Amino acid sequence: MKLLVIGSGGREHALAWKLLQSPRVSHVYVAPGNGGTATMARCSNLALSNPAALADFAKTEGIALTVVGPEAPLAQGVVDAFRAQGLKIFGPTRAAAQLESSKDFAKAFMVRHRIPTALYQTFTEPTAAHAYIDAQGAPIVIKADGLAAGKGVVVALTLTEAHEAVDAMLGDGSLGAAGARVVIEECLLGEEASFIVLCDGKNILPLATSQDHKRLQDADQGPNTGGMGAYSPAPVVSQTIHQRVMNEVIKPTIQGMTTDGIPFTGFLYAGLMIDDGDDATRAIKVLEFNCRLGDPETQPILMRMRSDLLEVFEQAVNGTLDQAEIDWDPRTSLGVVMASANYPLTPRLGDLITGIPAAQPDCVVFHAGTTLKDEALQTSGGRVLCVTALADNVRATQQRAYQTVHSINFDGAQYRTDIGWRALEKNT
Ligand code: AMP
Ligand code: GLY
Repeated sequence: MKLLVIGSGGREHALAWKLLQSPRVSHVYVAPGNGGTATMARCSNLALSNPAALADFAKTEGIALTVVGPEAPLAQGVVDAFRAQGLKIFGPTRAAAQLESSKDFAKAFMVRHRIPTALYQTFTEPTAAHAYIDAQGAPIVIKADGLAAGKGVVVALTLTEAHEAVDAMLGDGSLGAAGARVVIEECLLGEEASFIVLCDGKNILPLATSQDHKRLQDADQGPNTGGMGAYSPAPVVSQTIHQRVMNEVIKPTIQGMTTDGIPFTGFLYAGLMIDDGDDATRAIKVLEFNCRLGDPETQPILMRMRSDLLEVFEQAVNGTLDQAEIDWDPRTSLGVVMASANYPLTPRLGDLITGIPAAQPDCVVFHAGTTLKDEALQTSGGRVLCVTALADNVRATQQRAYQTVHSINFDGAQYRTDIGWRALEKNT
């Protein structure tokens, strides 16, 4: 079987790597892919991005199944384009992808279906937005309505920062159309977790839990990024919390989408804030929905997956996820992102990368912003690599990952040295 993965990040490298372990997969195309997918055996990159062109390719090449990594092609309707041609693809339709592509849509949806989330209001007029901020006080969170590649959220600790964010988005149009409407919401406190499930429109299959690290620097300092590292499982999601998330968030969301006439197929990712207290009563609120796998969460999650991912996707596109099961390695997996100089502002590109070891059963270096130029590997994006290890406990996994990180070189490399710190704190 030949498969197609759409996207170019570490998540897509991990998807292709995992799918190639299926005995029934002969080749995986990744569009557009990266330096890692370009060099993996039985894998090749495809320089296509337009949904119609991708569907044409899938038809001509006899691609058995396509999986979509990032949000942009989903919001462009790539799933609709494939389905119109009778092609099998796993992901949400353009309408369902609004759960991620419009924060205002997602917030109104959550209120309508009583899914717990921060209090909010939506604005297009700066004057009204400024007045709301003054009335609410700081800290407060300003979010661009549309897709902004991780740059659309400002957690403002002061009124000045909040007013500046509104001026930038609604006044100066700093984020273009994505920021022409803003959601302003209550700032939530607690511990974050990523809760990702597969859905076939009706049946739900949860993936292993995980936790991302959004801030650039150790101890969660510095600017927000797309994610500097992740690990799985996330100890904060106890069995009780897992059950509650399913009942209070995931099931009502899938049911709500069906009620609204937009059945959800694909990965549903609930970014959660879990406040302090007893597991039975502590508040669980949705910070955001994504309609795709997380990056870098996917890398450690797939490292722990023992089942054949192709079989799971087949059940998902056939609407039989109730018959699917996933066997997880009980060990901990942890991925450390190595980012380029100047990330997340304007990452410097073109630095030579050396020292990446071959994939091992307990450590795989997934590529993101890398490209092959004259046989040499160079940085080509903000997040460059995700060094992902698997070991018996968080500390051993951390050690294994950082041992590999230290063997890799490129000028200006930035990485956190404390990925997994919350889990370590819980263990000690
Ligand atoms: P989002 O893209 O909505 O996940 O926001 C990115 C990050 O901003 C989240 O992972 C949180 O760390 C933070 N964030 C978003 N919304 C809130 C909120 N209401 N309160 C506190 N932090 C938030
Ligand atoms: N790691 C967060 C995300 O994928 O949105």
